[in-house]
Amino acid sequence: MLKEKVLAKINDQFQFEIESAYLYYAMSAYFESINLKGFANWMTIQAQEELTHSHRLFTYIINRGARPSFGAAAAPKQDWKSPLDAMKDAYKHECKVSEMINECVGVAMKEGDHMTTTMLQWFVNEQVEEEAAADDVAQKLKLIGDNSGALFMLDSELSKRTLAPETGAA
Ligand SMILES: [Fe+2]
Ligand SMILES: [Fe+2]
Repeated sequence: MLKEKVLAKINDQFQFEIESAYLYYAMSAYFESINLKGFANWMTIQAQEELTHSHRLFTYIINRGARPSFGAAAAPKQDWKSPLDAMKDAYKHECKVSEMINECVGVAMKEGDHMTTTMLQWFVNEQVEEEAAADDVAQKLKLIGDNSGALFMLDSELSKRTLAPETGAA
């Protein structure tokens, strides 16, 4: 059985992963609106990945004999000044998620819940990649500056991203 404090943290994370998906769908729609379809694809895949993260936590709560609870998902920001502005926000968002995951681990450890800390290790590792992936695109955009040819080359590169198969059991 999950302890109340652990359940509360994991449940918040379950919801926040859905809010992350919501934000990335909003970013995808923004990129579609400025005809950067590769960036839009990258963001749609990102949103889909976030839904798999949410699903992972949902399944974990169920498997531990608890019942997930459902709050309102916050409306995401929907407009950005530039592709760089959006990618910087994506990077900041991932840093926030990393902090939240760290807090989840902290609570699970404090409560002596080894099953939850072990389950969360997947998220700890995933966040290293999540931060790096968003920052990589943001850094490339900084180098690109006003060069529209280079921007379209990056857009074409990002159009190739596909949903990676799930790794490890929840
Ligand atoms: Fe996530
Ligand atoms: Fe993420």
